[in-house]
Amino acid sequence: MKKIEELDLDSKKVIIRVDYNVPLNDKGEITDDNRIKESLKTINYCLDHNCKLILLSHLGKVKKEEDLKTKSLRVVAKRLSELLNKEVTFIPKTRGSEVENIISNMKEKDIVMLENTRFEDLDGKKESGNDPELAKYWASLGEVFINDAFGTCHRAHASNVGIASNMKEKALGFLVQKELDNLLPIINNPTHPFVVILGGAKISDKIETIKNLSQKADYILVGGAMAYTFLKAKGIETGKSLIDLESLEFAKEMLEKTNKIILPIDHVTNIDMENDNYKVKDNLDKEDIGLDIGPKTIELFKSYLKDSKTIFWNGPMGYYEKSIYQEGTKELCDFISKLDCFKVVGGGDTASCVINMGYKDKFTHVSTGGGASLELLEGKSLPGINL
Ligand code: 3PG
Repeated sequence: MKKIEELDLDSKKVIIRVDYNVPLNDKGEITDDNRIKESLKTINYCLDHNCKLILLSHLGKVKKEEDLKTKSLRVVAKRLSELLNKEVTFIPKTRGSEVENIISNMKEKDIVMLENTRFEDLDGKKESGNDPELAKYWASLGEVFINDAFGTCHRAHASNVGIASNMKEKALGFLVQKELDNLLPIINNPTHPFVVILGGAKISDKIETIKNLSQKADYILVGGAMAYTFLKAKGIETGKSLIDLESLEFAKEMLEKTNKIILPIDHVTNIDMENDNYKVKDNLDKEDIGLDIGPKTIELFKSYLKDSKTIFWNGPMGYYEKSIYQEGTKELCDFISKLDCFKVVGGGDTASCVINMGYKDKFTHVSTGGGASLELLEGKSLPGINL
């Protein structure tokens, strides 16, 4: 796959697949616009080459009619327009005469954004299922295709893999290139000591990543609800903490195979997730729910991190949705931000935490892809990259 600099872009009609699947609050406002900001380099490069830009992205999962109201990209087009200080024409359609007319009247440096590509999923999963007719149609709208949607590279959608298969002139954008440059060294040649921090709820999504990273890393520090599945596998009381039952056997096997997995030794706990009367305990009782790592665990994890030369972090250390359980995640974030090493955050809530705390520049790289970065670290080749 070519790099963007290898394309002849001058005055061309360019389709860019971006990943503007950004988090929205209850009012439909964007709570983290990092993915939009990270797409600007490719967009500005194309504008400098006088291109006409057609932007495609999905937003959330579209399964029912009501999703059409809450998952429109209109709010994203507005934010992009503010960031570029330039008009972005939002077309509330994914195909049809309105799309074609606006595109055929575009001038150099014009930007249009089509509606959420997954609106096509309502009628037989056409986007997510990489429908050939839809892919061909979208490809027909432009002359060149650039995939800059790193966060979607682990999916074979009509709007990435499908369009690319219909285009001669295509390349990876600057964001995808930057992600590969920072993520691949982690599995190919990490400098040791190499410490991985994993959190979040489910192990099942991360089994292959854990297997692969356990071969490469010196230690894997496990927090978040995921830690309770490992603790249960060790026969330790986990009370009413969230357990990923389908991964219990895997957790047992991993603990038998390797002594690299480091688990919490104390917990911020409560008997009800929604009241604020939490306690800090070394051992959980039957009614307790583990909701964050405790202060002793924070110190334990810091002792592994302090001399590391490579750190990869994916997943919060506690029930991050509630601010009183963010302490473990925030403390580690602050600690790592001061370390002088190759440190990468793999997308999702952890990336939002790093960005919201104002620490983005203190990390070597904060990935825009949660699932995509994990699949890359499994050692897999991603469909959206090998176009
Ligand atoms: C992401 O946020 O991980 C990507 O945009 C992919 O979204 P998806 O998990 O809904 O396919």
